[in-house]
Amino acid sequence: MHQVNPIIETKDLVKDYYDGGNVIHAIKNASIKIYPGEMVGIMGPSGSGKSTLLYVLGLLHPPTSGTYLFKGENILNYTAEEQAVFRNKELGFVFQSCDLLPNSTVFENLELPLVYAGADHRTRRQRILDALDRVGLSHRVDHWSNRLSGGERQRAAIARALVNNPSLILGDEPTGQLDQENTDAVVAQLRELAAQGFTVVLVTHEDDIGRACDRIIRIQDGTVISEGWDDATISSHVLEGLS
Ligand SMILES: Nc1ncnc2c1ncn2[C@@H]1O[C@H](COP(=O)(O)OP(=O)(O)O)[C@@H](O)[C@H]1O
Ligand SMILES: [Mg+2]
Repeated sequence: MHQVNPIIETKDLVKDYYDGGNVIHAIKNASIKIYPGEMVGIMGPSGSGKSTLLYVLGLLHPPTSGTYLFKGENILNYTAEEQAVFRNKELGFVFQSCDLLPNSTVFENLELPLVYAGADHRTRRQRILDALDRVGLSHRVDHWSNRLSGGERQRAAIARALVNNPSLILGDEPTGQLDQENTDAVVAQLRELAAQGFTVVLVTHEDDIGRACDRIIRIQDGTVISEGWDDATISSHVLEGLS
């Protein structure tokens, strides 16, 4: 039987924040696995640690303890510089509030991660056009980003997350500022990316977005209370990998 290896495997991941004299146990011994091509929702009450878990998975926050393998590699052992290269190459981030540079075109916004990756001019142009094409925004390539509609801006942010062809897309309530129509469009977009083989992990508190995911990792008070494995919605290729 064909065996699928997880793209992400954490064991007893802990994240404490030190706030003045207080310790906040934001993540308590999270042991999770995420498989390639899955779209996984992280859900739980406000303050339960959803964003923290996402940021730890994205190497934006260092965990306090525990292990984290990405494609079998112990990325926590990387130097800060290696981690930065890893993030640029393998991860794409989409946040709730649109963080495109306002006084720049869509092209210029998408070019930044490519410049950082050291791509030459020709490659940059190709990757930018490819990424915009994936999200249906090719016609907006030379638009000022602040002239885009809210939905277009978030699709541009998704395209920016895609330019370096990452294996993992991380979203923190990526539709939090959007109306229903644009939310549906962005969710459909993320589903499409998962169908193309990208792995998508997104924090959400909206049930209809959760239903669009292959499974839900539920977190409560810093503890992962379910990984969603017994959910009927689990995708078949994941089940295949587990059997
Ligand atoms: N930078 C920080 N410093 C101190 N405490 C933090 C920080 N970020 C989050 N927290 C605390 O960690 C807990 C989890 O927060 P967070 O991950 O943002 O939850 P969620 O995204 O589920 O709302 C909360 O108690 C929050 O106040
Ligand atoms: Mg949050």
